[in-house]
Amino acid sequence: MKTLKKNEILKDLPTKRLNLHIFSELDSTNDEAKRIDIQKDFHVIIAEKQTLGRGRQGKKWSSPNSGNIYMSICTENDLSSMPISLIAGLACKNAIDKLSGQPLIMLKWPNDILLNNKKIGGILVEIESDQKKIKTIVGIGINLNIKKEESWWGDLSQCGLETKRNELINLILSEFIKISNNLNFNWLTEWKNSCIHMNKEITIEDTNSNQIKAIFKDIDEKGNAVIETDIGEEIITSGEISIKGVY
Ligand code: BTN
Repeated sequence: MKTLKKNEILKDLPTKRLNLHIFSELDSTNDEAKRIDIQKDFHVIIAEKQTLGRGRQGKKWSSPNSGNIYMSICTENDLSSMPISLIAGLACKNAIDKLSGQPLIMLKWPNDILLNNKKIGGILVEIESDQKKIKTIVGIGINLNIKKEESWWGDLSQCGLETKRNELINLILSEFIKISNNLNFNWLTEWKNSCIHMNKEITIEDTNSNQIKAIFKDIDEKGNAVIETDIGEEIITSGEISIKGVY
């Protein structure tokens, strides 16, 4: 395992606009992001381990072993014109593909990162607001090397990137900053091209825990899923998708 190195992570990044905080252990990088005062455009919090790592929909995000990526990017800039969790998934995909030199990564709505049909990472976006400010927290978890017993998950050792953690974090930040500097970025086309289940049969669990069988038809401008069921088209704003053969 390569240790986290500030100078490698920050290479060629606009450090006037970005603060980096590295911890050996935290409860959750998203929770630390909630606690800090924002002084620059972006604050990045990285922990080697998390004791209370959180996933979407109240799930736990297992984060006991060093060598993976547990990171939160936090900003008070207004990113509300784009679906931020989809954008963050795209930034991770672009970074991993660039580093490997091949288009390996696929995305599963809303924000799962897949390699060889297995989930290797996910995004948890949280918004905190008071009367004056809105803080956007983008939590990113990516597995570089997980224990064999957990092999229903994938990791980046499958494509030889497990030793490139600093370079990968650097590229993710570079992609994320590039996208958030360009609010006209055509994320939708890029996202659709990377989507593993476009026009395929899926089962979707909506917010009321209903299991709906459908064809995944599209993503709309807001990042919602457009699905086709027996009774016609439906827009789903949040939920969990399952597809045959993808874990
Ligand atoms: C998911 O797929 O359910 C989202 C997982 C997000 C995990 C990351 S790890 C860094 C950040 N801190 C957390 O507690 N969660 C996110």
